[in-house]
Amino acid sequence: MVEILLDTADLEVIKRYNDIYDITGVTTNPTIISREKSEFFPTLLKIREIIGEKQLHVQVSAADSEGMVKEAERIVSLLGKNTYVKIPAVEEGIRAIKILKSKDFKVTATVIFSLQQAAMAANVGADYVAPYFNRISDSFGSGEQVVSDIAELFATHGIGTKLLVASFRNTDQIMRCFLAGAHAVTAPPEFYTKMLKNPFVDEIVERFSRDWTEAYGGKNICELD
Ligand code: G3P
Repeated sequence: MVEILLDTADLEVIKRYNDIYDITGVTTNPTIISREKSEFFPTLLKIREIIGEKQLHVQVSAADSEGMVKEAERIVSLLGKNTYVKIPAVEEGIRAIKILKSKDFKVTATVIFSLQQAAMAANVGADYVAPYFNRISDSFGSGEQVVSDIAELFATHGIGTKLLVASFRNTDQIMRCFLAGAHAVTAPPEFYTKMLKNPFVDEIVERFSRDWTEAYGGKNICELD
């Protein structure tokens, strides 16, 4: 089954989408959290309350591995076991991931722009790697190619690290990821609504409704003998 996560810290939006869809969790980063203009931990605790035991991915702010490890310990102690610590896949980050995995933390290696970074993060046992699909395509390459290369590498070597793709500009990019072998995507929630929008579908659904009302005078099935 494909996994979908909500790339937002907007509480009302999280409530709505958690209610409708079978989400795997919520992902945040410093940019997403800062948009809410509210306190860091209280906001994350409210998200935890809404999503229960589902995954909550929270990014560290430190640039050095020692700081990243300390922040990870605080994040998980306050937000609970199913919290994934997001760590940028730079050299200090790789060092921190190695330490955290030796202590059984759940870790998402983020800001992945290349197959090489994904390989290094998998080498130290990251649970997820998060390539930035659209930003890769906007910069030097093809997001789709990077995602499919990572999927192939992991499959070839039986690597258990999962692919959680982020950074999208349209819903087609999300489907390209799943077809290329991604296990999970995280996107602004409105993208999931857009995936069900189609003027042809809407037109037929409206026609069904009109025909029903005309034939049965506005009664619903429960009201009929
Ligand atoms: O989760 C990563 C994401 O927030 C980056 O996406 O839309 O800023 O390219 P974007």
